[in-house]
Amino acid sequence: MRFNEVYESERATRRFTNRKVLDRVLEEIVKEAQHSPSLLNSQPWRVYAVTGDSLSKIKASFKEKAKAGEEANEDFASMLSLNWDTFPSQNMATMGASQTYFFRNKMELFNKSNNEMFNAPAIYYLTIPKKSPAWSVFDLGIFAQSLMLCAINHELHVMPAHSLVSYPDVIHQYAGIPETEAISMGIAVGYKDRGAEVNDPKFFPPRLPLEKIYKLIK
Ligand SMILES: Cc1cc2nc3c(=O)[nH]c(=O)nc-3n(C[C@H](O)[C@H](O)[C@H](O)COP(=O)(O)O)c2cc1C
Repeated sequence: MRFNEVYESERATRRFTNRKVLDRVLEEIVKEAQHSPSLLNSQPWRVYAVTGDSLSKIKASFKEKAKAGEEANEDFASMLSLNWDTFPSQNMATMGASQTYFFRNKMELFNKSNNEMFNAPAIYYLTIPKKSPAWSVFDLGIFAQSLMLCAINHELHVMPAHSLVSYPDVIHQYAGIPETEAISMGIAVGYKDRGAEVNDPKFFPPRLPLEKIYKLIK
């Protein structure tokens, strides 16, 4: 695919079909994403592609915990400060993904898709060591974007979601991830369910006007 085609089609997919992703493809995508730059080539990331029975167990356990009202307990929330500046907080409040559902009276579609882990056939869990500088978080973000673009180039769709890492203890258990690693992010991949209302382009959230984020200084 042409780069622009890949880049412009990057959108959150909140419902996948039941079609599986080949193991070979899951591996190739990670190999391609390894081209990403990182501070002093530190490559702090590790990737666990979880599918099949292990993923079913994670989904069942997440569902149980959510039903029991257990609070999310993301590793990043305990590692990093959550005192956000007003600039991103205001953007979230006025143009975040959940807002577009909320304002169309369809918040239940958004919540249900998250609670069902998007019916994803495969989830990449990305980790960095718990002992990491902020640079590694930056590096992981670059890596995550590469991974998503490479997945789209393989004709897949992607769903990055912190709701996929709400209960890290469950993921540590079923994916066999050492306690020294922070389960930083989950990226679901698969094939978009084009008939699902939750995937309707009318829910695509807009971006800020360029002048709000960009200045050319001479
Ligand atoms: C770090 C991160 C966490 C996210 N967490 C969630 C999530 O938990 N649930 C969800 O439905 N979307 C989640 N998203 C998707 C964003 O809401 C989405 O990318 C954003 O609103 C822009 O929409 P678009 O990707 O469709 O252009 C997340 C995205 C990122 C990058």
